[in-house]
Parts: sequence; C-alpha cells; structure tokens
Amino acid sequence: MVKNLQVLGIESSCDETGVALVEVRGTALPVLLAHALHSQIVMHQAYGGVVPELASRDHIRRVLPLTEQVLLESKRSLTDIDVVAFTRGPGLAGALLVGAGVACALGAALAKPVLGVHHLEGHLLSPFLSVDPPEFPFVALLVSGGHTQLMRVDGVSRYTLLGETIDDAAGEAFDKSAKLLGLVYPGGPALAQLAEQGNAQAFKLPRPLLHSGNLDFSFAGLKTAVLVQAKKLALAQGSAVEALPVEVLADLAASTQAAIVEVLVKKSLAALTQTGLRRLVVAGGVGANRSLRQQLNAACAARQVRVHYPELHLCTDNGAMIAMAAAMRLQAGVQSASTVYAFDVKPRWPMDLL
Ligand code: KG4
Ligand code: ZN
Repeated sequence: MVKNLQVLGIESSCDETGVALVEVRGTALPVLLAHALHSQIVMHQAYGGVVPELASRDHIRRVLPLTEQVLLESKRSLTDIDVVAFTRGPGLAGALLVGAGVACALGAALAKPVLGVHHLEGHLLSPFLSVDPPEFPFVALLVSGGHTQLMRVDGVSRYTLLGETIDDAAGEAFDKSAKLLGLVYPGGPALAQLAEQGNAQAFKLPRPLLHSGNLDFSFAGLKTAVLVQAKKLALAQGSAVEALPVEVLADLAASTQAAIVEVLVKKSLAALTQTGLRRLVVAGGVGANRSLRQQLNAACAARQVRVHYPELHLCTDNGAMIAMAAAMRLQAGVQSASTVYAFDVKPRWPMDLL
C-alpha cells in the first residue's frame, strides 16, 4: 500500500503567517488536517499599511508556534512530515525569506524534501479545500491585493492567461479608495462593510475597460474618480473628506464597490463565453466580497454556470492553500520536492512562468 504523504505548508508572503498540514491519500483530493493563522493586521494598522520590516520580524515570532499548533491539532509529530512546502513568491522579499528559511531548516533537520509554491497558485487551488470543490477545466477569476487575472485552468500547472489588469489590482482599488475615504487598513473589508449601508447608484463612477473587447482590467482611474468626487463633496460641505457625513461616505463606498464588482462580473462572463466553459472559480482576498459573490451567483445561475469559491476564511492568505497547492502539484506529478535547501525566493514571479 502507498503511504499517505503529509505536506506541511508555510505562508509568509505578506501580512499573515499561515501554517497547515495536508494529507495526500492516493489519487483522491488531498485533505486538510489542520491549519493555523496569525494576522498582523492590528500591528500594521497604526501605520495605515504593511511595514515590510515589521512583517518579517513578526513572521519569525509566529511561524514555529503556529507549526506546533498545527501538529498538535492534527495529532502528528514533526517526524511525520514528508514534505515541507513554503511560499516562494511573489511577495515581500524579507517576509518570503522567513518562510523559506524556516521550511528549508525544517527540511534539512528532518532530512525531508522541500517545495517552493507560487502564492497565486495557492489562491487558485484554494477552492479545492471547500466542501464544494470544482472540477477541471474552469475559468478562474483571481482577485487579490496585488493581482487581477482571468485564467483558463485545464489542470494543475495547465494555466492560460486570458486577461489581467494593466495597472492597479481590484484589491488595490478597494484599498486605495478606502484610504481616500479615511477608512482603516485593510481597506477592502472596511469599504465593503460601509458600502452595505450605502446607495450604489448614488454616484456615477467609471467602469474602466468594460467595453474594451478583451479580458484586461484597469482600475487606476477609478480611485482618481473617487478622489475627485470625494473632494467635490468635501469642498461643498467645507469639510475634510473623512469628515463627510457617514451616509455620504457610505454612498461613495457603495458606488465604488459597484463599479469594481460590475467590471469583474462582466469580464468573468465574457471569459466564460470566450472559452465556452461552464464553470467559474473565484479566488483571492476580494473573493470574500459579499456583493461580488451575490452578483456572480445571480449571473452564473442565469447561464447555468457553476461557480466555486474558497471557504470565506480561506479567501485571504493562509497556509492551507500553500500546503494544498504543493500536495496537488506532487500528486499531479508536475513538480517533485527537492533536498536542495539553498532557497531563493522570488518577490516578483509571473504566474505564466510556472
Ligand atoms: O489574497 P489576499 O489576502 O492577499 C494578496 O495576495 O494580495 O488579498 C488581499 C486583498 C486586499 O486588497 C483586501 O482589501 C481585499 O483582498 N479584501 C477584500 C475583502 N476582503 C479582503 N476586498 C473587498 N471586500 C472584501 N470583503
Ligand atoms: Zn494572497
């Protein structure tokens, strides 16, 4: 009988330290045994954004206690680990080095191989951890803080880029607009929460590249439009933008969210039409957005398209998606783990080079 493989995954590319253990059982979908996460949000909040050096130092503090927690919860010991996976990139160089360094040290100490994972592939495959996992092939809408891409996915490591943002990512559009409105970091969830009380039709904001005829996105102009609108309102009120009445800020937030969501939904539908596929997978932090989910669900139901999401708590960065991506790559035979512990992280790493 083939032994089950225990894959430890370590995520440290930005402001969350995540560790998880996934088990590969033959050809079945790998199973998540346990995962643990520490978010640095509160620490960075005081600075209005991620401070890379603080992020690296905090990853150092958290990664081993989280690993111990995962082993305890999964009732496994260090020596049960067969492969140590880590996020190799893209991300903050210093933060990536912490995860890579710990993974390689663990691997060397246990005489077990290591495997560097692409962070976006982790997001892309994270819906396979959900109770309703997708089947290949599908169209993937990858919407994180730094990336917005539409991809055709035919299998593990069989990715074709259909379109991507030519400037800001959708998450960045949320974050930057939120900052302009005086909301706390991280802006995406804060803007989404405020938008719940607002009128999405209150302000007419641009839908960039909506009719461009291709599957590319552009969100940089949107934040400028939000800024112009906010300044106009503030001038009329004789106040600062942040001091505008909360109903006005909520209307602005709702209108901003509506512009981003409409573009994401329309382009996703166009990608489904272009590929002829009937399955959509949404991944990355913005995939947690309620309005995006509602509108995609409605649009996909009307076209008999199945839509899959990661579990809400696995939309943003976590170790489970890194362990899962490593497990699925090993299982598919597209990458083997290595006993070369000389790690080199890739802060910039285009996914089409996978
Ligand atoms: O995937 P992720 O955790 O990190 C990256 O790999 O970038 O994505 C983080 C992004 C941030 O821009 C954050 O504001 C956004 O996801 N985000 C949201 C929501 N939750 C997280 N944006 C809109 N609505 C949300 N509920
Ligand atoms: Zn991410």
